[in-house]
This record gives sequence, structure tokens and C-alpha cells, in this order.
Amino acid sequence: MSETQPRISIIVGSARPVRIGRQLADSIAEALTESTSADVRILDLREIDLPMLDEPLMAGMNQYANPHTLAWAAEIRASDAVIFLTPQYNAGYPAALKNAIDYIFAEWQDRPSAIISYGGHGGPKAAKQLREVLEFIRMDLTDEQPQLVIQREDYTADWHLGDPDAVVARYADEITAVGTALEARIGALEAA
Ligand SMILES: Cc1cc2nc3c(=O)[nH]c(=O)nc-3n(C[C@H](O)[C@H](O)[C@H](O)COP(=O)(O)O)c2cc1C
Repeated sequence: MSETQPRISIIVGSARPVRIGRQLADSIAEALTESTSADVRILDLREIDLPMLDEPLMAGMNQYANPHTLAWAAEIRASDAVIFLTPQYNAGYPAALKNAIDYIFAEWQDRPSAIISYGGHGGPKAAKQLREVLEFIRMDLTDEQPQLVIQREDYTADWHLGDPDAVVARYADEITAVGTALEARIGALEAA
């Protein structure tokens, strides 16, 4: 973890080739860069491209074998806080995100974190499921949990967002509150 500028990483939970998750992540990163003192990075599961969990031992044994697991664990260790940006898929969150969570274990524990969900109704069911899992792995979750409602008219004909900044701007106060809450938790950990 950083002793100078804290790092907040946004995990992009959607790994589809045609998606809006990366657009939202970029725009949220920009908003948080303005409203916090953090170095805000994107951890894009499409780019990171983890295979389906292929570690011989379960993550709780803390003996990672594969280079991609060690690299993923290092990214999370380097993050003072993590934001899980998740769409809602069939009343849950994406398999790629669960896979990435299951790869590692100790790295998640006590790490300040937040969930931002999105979907036609803001992705409440994805957020609820994800929250249960993140509580199980003992992440330090904020109460702030923005749910971005994506309307049909937000999409272009090729299923991207026409103006992601406008979508994110509708939730500016809630996203600022996430950043503030994460910075407070990072500060409390450093002071402890
Ligand atoms: C497999 C799948 C299941 C979906 N299920 C839901 C759903 O349960 N509720 C909802 O509001 N939208 C649902 N949608 C629509 C998504 O909210 C929308 O496609 C969104 O753009 C997905 O995020 P992404 O583009 O970043 O992958 C679903 C989309 C996919 C691909």
C-alpha cells in the first residue's frame, strides 16, 4: 500500500467485447480523480483476461502457483481501496467478476471497498449478491452503494453509451460520497 498518494482501483466487472462497463469506469475514474486526492486506476477484467480459476490450491492456502494469479494479487495489494463496478446479468453479477474474486483471498481482507452497480434498474440484485460475497471475504465495505440506472436512450445504436459522462454526472454526489468514504477508511488504516 502507498504511504503517499493513495491508490483507488476500479475493477471493471464486465468483460464482454461490446459493453458499457469500461466507458462508465473511465468516467467514474475521472470524477474521482477530481473529487479525491487518490491515484485512480482501472483494473479491466477484459484486459487482465484471467482464465477460469486454475490454481491447484484454494486461495485461502496463500500459495499461488500461476504468474497470472501473482500478478492479479499484486494489483490488489497495490490498491489502497477497490471499487467493484458491476452490471446486473440475470439478477446477479458477471461470472468474470466472481472468477477474479475467487483467485485470491488474503489480499481482499480488510481492504476498503465499495460497490457501484448499473443496469436497467440500477443493478440492485447484482449489488446485493456481490455485497454478500465481499462481506464473506471480509472486505471493509462502504455503506455508500450507487446504483446507476441506464436508460434505453443512453445507448447508441451499437450498444455503447453516447455520453457516459452525462450518465455518471446524474450520480455525481453519490460517487463523490464513495470517494470520501474510501479515503476516510484508508486514512483510518494508516493511522492505526
Ligand atoms: C447476460 C445479460 C443479462 C442481463 N440481465 C439483466 C438484468 O437482470 N437486469 C438488467 O437491468 N439488465 C440486464 N441486462 C442488460 C444490461 O444491464 C446491459 O446489457 C448492460 O449494458 C450490461 O453491462 P455491460 O455492457 O458493461 O456488459 C443483461 C445483459 C446481459 C448481457
